Amino acid sequence: MNLTLKIWRQKDAKSKGSMVNYPISGIEDDMSFLEMMDVLNEELINKGEEPVVFDHDCREGICGSCSLQINGQPHGPDRLITACQLHMRSFKDGDTIFIEPFRAKAFPVIKDLMIDRSAFDRIQQAGGYISVNTSGNTVDANAIPIEKENADDSFAAATCIGCGACVAACKNASAMLFTSAKVSQFALLPQGQVEATDRVMAMVNQMDEEGFGNCTNTGACEIECPKGISLENIARMNREYLAASLKG
Ligand code: SF4
Ligand code: FES
Repeated sequence: MNLTLKIWRQKDAKSKGSMVNYPISGIEDDMSFLEMMDVLNEELINKGEEPVVFDHDCREGICGSCSLQINGQPHGPDRLITACQLHMRSFKDGDTIFIEPFRAKAFPVIKDLMIDRSAFDRIQQAGGYISVNTSGNTVDANAIPIEKENADDSFAAATCIGCGACVAACKNASAMLFTSAKVSQFALLPQGQVEATDRVMAMVNQMDEEGFGNCTNTGACEIECPKGISLENIARMNREYLAASLKG
């Protein structure tokens, strides 16, 4: 395939960025999207130009680093996959592909396509933990009875990889889907009850402090989420937040 890439280049957080055109040829259907980016970077390096900076780590949909806005969609045109799982067979010869970083005030660009998602870490740090009695009375987690439905919903919420696609998909750059997944994975389990009240207050407050917007109720986040995190988590977080507020 011969393609035209239009890629966001930005020197650093303070510089103004712009889209730059890169024609690329010899791209095969079974290459992953990031392998195609590797081909481009190899060409740029061989020409003595600066390669395009983009985040990646596992390249198998686990770590959530490969956050790219591809043709206006977080993680590109296919559903329930990350950018690293996207393959070039989803495009055709002669296509022009727009590649940008995830856009949100709370995700400042570090360089080119790499963004700072430490706001998510701070939301996690605000309440994404549980207390465990380790004084010799620790109960084996597998010995605690948990309803199957709750265990399944908790596990599903825990599959959030913190990629930020939900924020990038939202007109308000809301982090409600991410935060609600992190609240839900504990709220559904007995182990999560000790800090339940403080957790939801602290994580929601941190989310607001980081500059994420309000939920639009459009559900774009759920559609673009590579892990299929359900909007039900947002409803659960809202219920948890209301209950915690009433407790004072
Ligand atoms: S909720 Fe989905 S889109 Fe948002 S950070 Fe988690 S995995 Fe990514
Ligand atoms: S590189 Fe880890 S999810 Fe894509």
